[in-house]
This record gives sequence, structure tokens and C-alpha cells, in this order.
Amino acid sequence: MKSLVIEGGNPLSGTVSISGAKNAALPACVASLLTEDPVILHSIPQLRDVSTILYTLGALGKRVVRHDANVSIAAGGSLISEANAYSVSQMRASFLVLGPLVARLGKAVVPLPGGCAIGARPVDLHLEGLRALGARVEERNGMVVVTADRLTGGTIHLPFPSVGATEQIAMAACLAEGQTVIHNAAIEPEVIDLIELLGKMGADISVTDRTIRVMGKRSLGGAEHMLIPDRMEAGTILLAGAITRGRVSVSPVRPQHLDAFLNSLRATGVELELGEMSITATGITRPTAIKLDTAPYPGFPTDLHPPLAAFLSIADGTSKITESVFERRFAYSVPLCKMGARIVQDGATISIQGIDELTGQQVDAPDIRGGAALVLAGLAARGRTVVTGLDHIDRGHANLESKLRAIGARIERREDDS
Ligand code: EPZ
Repeated sequence: MKSLVIEGGNPLSGTVSISGAKNAALPACVASLLTEDPVILHSIPQLRDVSTILYTLGALGKRVVRHDANVSIAAGGSLISEANAYSVSQMRASFLVLGPLVARLGKAVVPLPGGCAIGARPVDLHLEGLRALGARVEERNGMVVVTADRLTGGTIHLPFPSVGATEQIAMAACLAEGQTVIHNAAIEPEVIDLIELLGKMGADISVTDRTIRVMGKRSLGGAEHMLIPDRMEAGTILLAGAITRGRVSVSPVRPQHLDAFLNSLRATGVELELGEMSITATGITRPTAIKLDTAPYPGFPTDLHPPLAAFLSIADGTSKITESVFERRFAYSVPLCKMGARIVQDGATISIQGIDELTGQQVDAPDIRGGAALVLAGLAARGRTVVTGLDHIDRGHANLESKLRAIGARIERREDDS
């Protein structure tokens, strides 16, 4: 079984180069379905999820050429309207191909994505959005079949600013006839990055506050685009410096994309220095406990809740985190308690009573961000921590152990057959 073996207790020190954002890369790759012309993306992270989406696009008829952190996605013959069941089962974001396919072909057949470790994660808002654009949507034996002669612009009021639903509807609307308005849209930096790419492809799309307006076109062209840095990776690496009482810098990163997270980190007593495209965190002997709620952007990002919880498990006092986005985001608390953390869950709120020191254990990652939390805990814990469940971690963090080792972590990947 693959594992990360960590000897805790070393203060980390140095600068880590941040990869392109996974959650910007995935929708950006899917946007290539909207055009016959080549879409060239730079700063593509070396992640399993990116390989999965590129495999999906290849199976739909795209010609994908990848070289290091750059990818070109061009036409490779006629597009196919049915997505590969395997890739959607592997990764929920593959479901985003639905809107662009029906916008281009008038038909799309995509398996319903399952839930996962962090929640049921339904797609009702995606489907209602496509219906508002005039599509006929049926569910048959676990498949979603969407048809439309031509999508027509509509007005959508999202009850929750869903990132995926916003991206799905915005991409489909680019080829719909007439104007589409999406109210209460998600405005995460990754969504704004997709909107920038769509604009480069010739889409008539704009966002004001939480309202996205699109005037549909007959077709879009190709584009070249540099993805934004991964703010979740940046936040996680900064926490690695803080939890080991070291001094760590991350670059490139846009500090304004992490405002809420940085405010929470500062409230624990961690010293922060912000540059134009860099952030430096200096850890302290004992962080102060804090209270926070996760929320859609610009609120505290749910993806940094588990890594922050690991840091707060050694704080002075009792912290509280209320999770408002995913109902099962708390899976990390079980393995973290095995390492000595004192975490009690009460509905959507957890209380973390800080302890002096965590103890190294064998623990299993429940999901991407929970896995990152366990790695952080292992970096600070007394003794050895063995983290399994690397399939999760590898989906969201490119070369995590080599980036941490380069700043002083005693961490290595084992590929034991056991
Ligand atoms: C995106 O997931 C991200 N994934 C997630 O990152 C991130 O945690 C999440 O947004 C919130 O910021 C990608 O961008 C690939 P949502 P998504 O639609 O689009 C409910 C990671 O670790 N909902 O904003 O699935 C849903 O159940 C991943 O990188 C509906 O009820 O998130 C959830 O409770 C994890 N119906 C809430 O909305 C719908 O049709 C937020 O989901 C859609 C969503």
C-alpha cells in the first residue's frame, strides 16, 4: 500500500513554488469543448484529476497534447455526445462536460456523479440551470440525457452559489441564443478565471457582484491562458510552516484570493508578510484558538477547513469551526483524534480543544483536504506518522512530499506491496 512516512518535529523553512490551481484547470479544460479551435493552457498542475479530465476530453474526440505544465486541446475529429462513464465515476468535475456538449451538439449523455467522502453532492442545480436554458433533461438508469435544438438564454437564481453549477451554466450559456443572467453565482477566483478564459475565446460574458451576464454566440474561438495559482495548495503549505513553528514562503500566489484564510491565520498569532505574488508565514510557539465559519467566496474556503483544524489541534484554548458547505467535511477528525487531537462534533460545528503535542500514528486519508490535514499533523507530531490513502492526496496536491522535503520536512513516499 502506498504511504507517506513522516518523522515529525522539524521546523520548516524556505520557499515553495505553487502549482496552477486544480479547480481552475478542470473547468478550463472542459471549456475547450465549446470550440473547434485549439485552447492552450499554461500552469496546468501535474495531478491525477487533470489527467482524468484530459482523458475524458480525448474520449469525447479532442486531441490533447500535454508538455510539462502546458496543454493544448484541439479538435481531433467530430465530438462525441456520450461521456466516458469511468472518468465521471472517478471525478465529479467531469460532469461539467454536460453543458458544453449539449450546447455544441444538441445532445449530451453523462453518468450521474456519485457522492463522495465530503457529502452527497447532488447536481440538481446543474440540471435546473440547463432546463432554464431550454434543454430537456432526463435521468435514465444513472445517466443524464440532455437534448436541445439550440439552447436559449434564460434567467437563473441559484439558491446556493454553487461553484460547479455556476461553471456549467455559464459555459452552456456562451452558445445559447440570447441573454442569460445567473443570479447568486459563485465568484470563487477559479470561477472568475474560467470567465476570463471564456472572454478570451470570444464569449460575451461579464460578472458584477454575484450576477453573471452572458450574451450567447453562434461559436467561440480558441485561446491561450495562464491559470491562476492554487490558493488551496498555498494555504496548506503556509500551515505546514506555521504548525512546525518554522518560516515558509509561497509563490506565486495572489494574497487577495486568500483574504479570509489569512485573516484567520493572523488571528491565531501567526506572523504574515504579503508581497505582490507571495506570502510568508512565521510560526509561533503556541497558536491562539479561534472561531470561524466556512462560506462561499469571499468567505473562509471549505477546502482549507481540514488543514486549519490540524493546526488548531495544538492551539492554546478551544477553537470552533462551523462548516456550511459540505455536510461530511469532518471525516478527517477521526484519524486526527487517533493522533491525540481532542475534537468533538456537534452538527455542523466542531470544537477543537488544543493540546500541547500530537503523537505520530498510522492514519488513513478520507479525502483530498483531510489527507493534507493528516500530513500537516504528522509534520508537527512527536515520532513517526504513516499516512495512507494517497489516491486522495495525489488528486489535489502535486508532488506534496517533494515540496515539503525541500523546506526541511522528513517525509518520504513508500510504495510497499503490503
Ligand atoms: C467545487 O466543488 C470544488 N471542486 C470543491 O473542491 C470545493 O470544495 C467546492 O467547489 C466549494 O468551494 C472543483 O472546483 C472541481 P459546489 P463543487 O457546487 O462545484 C451543494 C477539492 O477538494 N450542491 O459549490 O462540487 C453541494 O452538495 C474540491 O478541490 C447542490 O446541492 O461545489 C454542496 O453542499 C472538494 N446541488 C454545496 O452545494 C448542486 O447541483 C457546494 O457545492 C450543486 C451543489
